Amino acid sequence: MSMDLFEALRSDRTPLFLAPQAGVSESPFRRLCRRFGADVVVSEFVSADGIVRGNPRSDRYLRFDEAERPIGIQIFGSDPVMMADAAAYVSEVYAPDFVDVNFGCPVKKIVKRNGGSGCLRDLGLVERIVRAVVDATPLPVTTKIRSGFDEPSRDPVGIALRCQEAGSRMVTLHPRTRTDMYSGVARWDEIRALVEALDVPVVGNGDVSTGDDARRMRDETGCHGVMIARGSHGNPWIFRDARAALDGRPVPPPPDIRERFAVCLEHARNAIRYGGRDPEVAAREFRKHLGWYTKGMPGGRAFRSELFQVNSLEEIEARIAGYLERVEEGSLEPVG
Ligand SMILES: Cc1cc2nc3c(=O)[nH]c(=O)nc-3n(C[C@H](O)[C@H](O)[C@H](O)COP(=O)(O)O)c2cc1C
Repeated sequence: MSMDLFEALRSDRTPLFLAPQAGVSESPFRRLCRRFGADVVVSEFVSADGIVRGNPRSDRYLRFDEAERPIGIQIFGSDPVMMADAAAYVSEVYAPDFVDVNFGCPVKKIVKRNGGSGCLRDLGLVERIVRAVVDATPLPVTTKIRSGFDEPSRDPVGIALRCQEAGSRMVTLHPRTRTDMYSGVARWDEIRALVEALDVPVVGNGDVSTGDDARRMRDETGCHGVMIARGSHGNPWIFRDARAALDGRPVPPPPDIRERFAVCLEHARNAIRYGGRDPEVAAREFRKHLGWYTKGMPGGRAFRSELFQVNSLEEIEARIAGYLERVEEGSLEPVG
């Protein structure tokens, strides 16, 4: 299976990746995105520390369905030995198609301990981590990076070359620095520079919010794959649209309200049942998705304040049924 992935990256197909996203790219959402055309999915980042210590929550992050393949499990941490142990365990117990190392996470709590993009302050450490992980697993190892820690240390090509030298078989670049967080625009010219400098495939990431953006990213950078994070929120259809655009076909019309809710409800049912969580907690965690699915709908703002109070699947179903009735009656203000 992983052969297929690396072959696909070398072909003209330009595989589409659902990005690793904490609290979003969980198994039910990954399955949905695969169905809508994501070719590859990546788990949310999982702490190497948590894996090695047998944190019971790790299993929920690490489990996946066969239908999700090809899938990468993403791990983060700043200790090469711990990262190696975590990679070995994940490979043996979960057997994903590849292991991805996170060097991009900008969250303070993680950076402080040198995890995620914190590693970008010490490229020797980046290299030691990648080597340790490569030595510990028979699976292909890949890396996901930002362009640097801050503006003075901005050096996407230098960072990516270190990853490649250490054995990374693919590099995904989100061309912002840690200091940028999500501000400004992603510098796609840096993706192009990576494509020119590396021997391994480069996956471009950052600011793809429509199907046509995916095509533009490929055309402007020559990247071997395109990864989408925020553009997938409430919108797994983006993968269908991106595939059409990449293939030079017209992008299909957006789904109507009924289709959006059918998919939203399927997602809600699977997400709330998933992973043995308290259903009330799971329903509350799903509120963010409800907000995303209803973006731009008539009367959406008022409806969202209703949805942000739900505590169960039944309530979600009832609120949506009520909304659809109001749509049929034509009693909604046409504002998002
Ligand atoms: C809610 C959220 C959670 C994220 N979690 C992760 C993560 O666990 N691992 C990771 O490498 N990147 C994570 N990211 C970063 C994304 O993978 C991606 O690099 C970034 O959002 C830029 O892509 P976009 O413009 O398509 O959103 C996260 C982003 C968001 C919005």
